Amino acid sequence: MNNLFTMKDLSTEEIHEILHTAESFAKGENWTPAKQTFAVNLFFEPSTRTKTSFEIAERKLGIDVIPFETGSSSILKGETLEDTLKTLESIGVDLAVIRHKQDAYYESLAGKFQMKIVNGGDGCGQHPTQSLLDLLTIKQEFGKFEGLKVTIVGDLSHSRVARSNTEALTALGAEVFYSGPAEWFVGDAGNAENYVDIDEAIEFSDVLMLLRIQHERHDTMMDLSAEQYHERYGLTPKREERMKPGSIIMHPGPVNRGVEIADSLVESGKSRIFKQMENGVYARMAVLRNILDK
Ligand code: CP
Repeated sequence: MNNLFTMKDLSTEEIHEILHTAESFAKGENWTPAKQTFAVNLFFEPSTRTKTSFEIAERKLGIDVIPFETGSSSILKGETLEDTLKTLESIGVDLAVIRHKQDAYYESLAGKFQMKIVNGGDGCGQHPTQSLLDLLTIKQEFGKFEGLKVTIVGDLSHSRVARSNTEALTALGAEVFYSGPAEWFVGDAGNAENYVDIDEAIEFSDVLMLLRIQHERHDTMMDLSAEQYHERYGLTPKREERMKPGSIIMHPGPVNRGVEIADSLVESGKSRIFKQMENGVYARMAVLRNILDK
């Protein structure tokens, strides 16, 4: 693996290998690159979890993280992303993690750099390292993917998390279902026959993966209030009581409490939301090792 742009870049064997490496890091294994390595994290969209956990992962691996704020870089003077990356590569940067609002921004970069590039999320496209940390969390819980029923609930049409997880979970043998407003169930986020009502999904799903409404990507205002959305599509305490025994709640974050999930359920016994965030460090360490250990 030279770069990681989408989950389709990884075979199922490579996914299993990365998860195995992530589990080793979770148990305290150490690994550092053979030579001094410089990384930059270029985030053109807001981020708390991905940016911070990449930086912690890089530092835990002994990688030198070069501070880079897109808002105070020469990108503001019109420099393109490609020229920015060429500049950083010339200066000696070995690895760039990029989050960008443009879907598939990486397609124009492929094959042009010696520097390794990891996609930290592109628009409504892909979020491969989120998918890997989600897979790690599911594996820790169930020890397998085959036969699991995972329902992704909410803003499917704008969700790079839904897209990356659909591809990966399906490849690994899980069955993926979808729920939420029918008008958001479009495009390649899934199959029509797997679209289910939330009241049905809670009873059979091993994993309920809730998504934030990405208002910033909507052209028009949602015609439901937050309270109405919560009652119609959200995970309420009453619905949580009817969830399948042994099932878990996941959410990539950031969470809108009281909208897609009741405030009281964010830190409940079934919730793995903060475990996902912890696993983000191990999954990203594993991706970086896989890319750099060549
Ligand atoms: N899950 C996720 O990508 O969160 P951030 O936007 O905070 O990085």
